[in-house]
Amino acid sequence: MTTAERVRTSQRVQALLPALRERLQDRVSTAAAVLDHHGGGGEGVPISSLPDAVVFPLDNEEVSWVLRHCNEAGIPVVPFGTGTSLEAHVAAVRGGLSVDLSRMNTILDVSADSLDCRVQAGVTRMQLNAAVRDQGLFFPIDPGANASLGGMACTRASGTAAVRYGTMRDAVLGLTVVMADGRIVRTGTRARKTAAGLDLTRLFVGSEGVLGIVTEVQLRLWGLPETVQAAVCQFAELSSAVQTVIAALQVGIPVARIELLDDVQMAACIAYSRLEGFEARPTLFIEFHGGAAAVREQIETLEQIAADAGGQGFRWAERPEDRSKLWKARHDVTYANLAIRPGCRMIGTDACVPIAELVQCIEETKADVEESGLIAPLVGHVGDGNFHLGIVFDPASENERSRAEALAERVALRAIRLGGTCTGEHGIGLHRIHQLVVEHPEGVELMRSIKHALDPNGIMNPGKMLPA
Ligand code: LAC
Ligand code: ZN
Repeated sequence: MTTAERVRTSQRVQALLPALRERLQDRVSTAAAVLDHHGGGGEGVPISSLPDAVVFPLDNEEVSWVLRHCNEAGIPVVPFGTGTSLEAHVAAVRGGLSVDLSRMNTILDVSADSLDCRVQAGVTRMQLNAAVRDQGLFFPIDPGANASLGGMACTRASGTAAVRYGTMRDAVLGLTVVMADGRIVRTGTRARKTAAGLDLTRLFVGSEGVLGIVTEVQLRLWGLPETVQAAVCQFAELSSAVQTVIAALQVGIPVARIELLDDVQMAACIAYSRLEGFEARPTLFIEFHGGAAAVREQIETLEQIAADAGGQGFRWAERPEDRSKLWKARHDVTYANLAIRPGCRMIGTDACVPIAELVQCIEETKADVEESGLIAPLVGHVGDGNFHLGIVFDPASENERSRAEALAERVALRAIRLGGTCTGEHGIGLHRIHQLVVEHPEGVELMRSIKHALDPNGIMNPGKMLPA
């Protein structure tokens, strides 16, 4: 984008501001701190791409009004949930308007009998869980951050419990989407399945804001499990830990979570989260959900598998507070990694491969890290074949940054070569566009056709996901 184009966008926003203020009153901001909060790289590599203004709509009609006017004026629009994206989805790389959905945070409907609910896009997953717990329900998709459900739908998020409960692809039954021209479209139904036409719900799930703004989400809910047990098992060899996961899946143990942390990641977590009684070795964090008898059986089978693979016995987190401490340590890996070296930054990778290729993919990746001379803890949702490197680098060193970027690139291409994907859950966003082209050379053209048909003026989250 040229400076002239950027200036033109600012002028268009300035011209629209009086009308915006009339329609949304004080829910329009151009304050520096607000622009700053909305124009960063989210929780990923920091960048600064500020919008010209931020709006805080309250309902579908307001979003529709904003989009219709931005479409007519050719103003870029960037949807914003909680800003926890790791791939700079919320950065306003061409300026324009950031549409912050956090005030659309009403839980519209909950049905304990049908195990479903409808929420506005700004409702967060923790807010939903707190609201439905009394009815014996929960929403299991857990990407770590307390993300908004609209944002999770738009990035097709998953996280630690996907091995049992699936991803947002599986949890979303339908959506309300406001299109670039302001049309309000409802997709899906409350039925668990449908054969009615093209699957528009899944077109928008994972669409990263490039097709329209998701304003409401119809979600599946699950009954709270009778028993929840968490355990940790340490291994001498990384491959033994991975083999344990693969064997567990192959015999069909319905583990609720099974997370791998390598020796480097464990060292970082022990230091940052003050985990006691653990060694810096390859480790599995596991959680079991179900009836008491079923859980006992799952545990016995998995203990046997782990022992056969050389695991050093299960250590239990019996009390809820021990369990929380363990999972908090797991979810805080990003902060643990950033604490390895003061002032450092991190590039996260998100390779996801078929289970049978996982050992090879991880072993080649570990060797690659070794050769690179960089520090890069490995953690992952290995039950899904998905793992992350947190490549730590000194932002002041151009050399280190480019080595980190090159390592991240090799991990993505390796996953694609092994029949997998460059991103299991974080999305394409700003930095993976060329990886998407490698992964789906023909598919990308189809994606662009769809984008053009639905957003002919290219106002929706421009610069993300698709090549220009
Ligand atoms: C995690 C995030 C980074 O797994 O996806 O912690
Ligand atoms: Zn993850």
